[in-house]
Amino acid sequence: MTTILDFKKKKLAKEKITMVTCYDHAFAKLVSKSNMDCVLVGDSLGQVIHGFPTTLQVTTDLMVLHTQAVVRGAPNKFIVTDMPFLSTRKGLVFAMECIEKIMQAGAQAVKIEGADGHLELIKHIVESGVPVMAHLGLTPQSIHQLGGPKVQGKKTEQAHKILEDALALEKAGCFAVVLECVPAALAKEISEKLQVPTIGIGGGHDTDGQVLVLQDMLGMNSEFSPKFLKKFMNGADLITGALNEYVSEVKEVKFPGPGHQYDA
Ligand code: KIV
Repeated sequence: MTTILDFKKKKLAKEKITMVTCYDHAFAKLVSKSNMDCVLVGDSLGQVIHGFPTTLQVTTDLMVLHTQAVVRGAPNKFIVTDMPFLSTRKGLVFAMECIEKIMQAGAQAVKIEGADGHLELIKHIVESGVPVMAHLGLTPQSIHQLGGPKVQGKKTEQAHKILEDALALEKAGCFAVVLECVPAALAKEISEKLQVPTIGIGGGHDTDGQVLVLQDMLGMNSEFSPKFLKKFMNGADLITGALNEYVSEVKEVKFPGPGHQYDA
């Protein structure tokens, strides 16, 4: 089982870290049987599971509920849970109460988007014994401020700010930094300058690890195909195909067959 200590060890050994999102018990059981190092109960569950337009609708209660389901399915995995929208912006007590609920739900760490205004809070969380994963670049909770899901750090000044933020977050005690949708050269530079590992999504192959949304990498959403995404299977076609096969067999009275019924 991966622990927080393995993140730095893997970086030093140049062994890539693998992380995937997971939001429910059924998938957690499958992930638990895989070789994945780490599971993220990401607030992308707002869109992926609940059909919200953004992550802004996600609450602490929702993160706690999904964390509990994932922990029950994958107790052998290192589980990181996202701090939901604005939970780090309402003062120390509010943030710590949210962290208390998430950690008591079974997470081993929390992830916090952005650096501005967070450094003192992160120091306090880490000093309280809670590991913090940082998240820079495209930070979905700031989607309206960023003007949409755009690559971040293309301009020199912006790239410099992301690098400075990453260094400050490391100093504040973060054990890893997610870099989302930044140019590959910037992700490489940050990964070389940090002692803690970087975990990329849309940041090229020089980060110390990779993370993808589970349903995206399984190809469950045929309408979502950003450049950075590789679909490791065509889940949408496979699942729709299976559903239609079931419908046909029921209509043609092929299912249930003799092997799928109880005899007297
Ligand atoms: O919520 C999420 O899925 C994330 C990943 C994209 C890193 O934060």
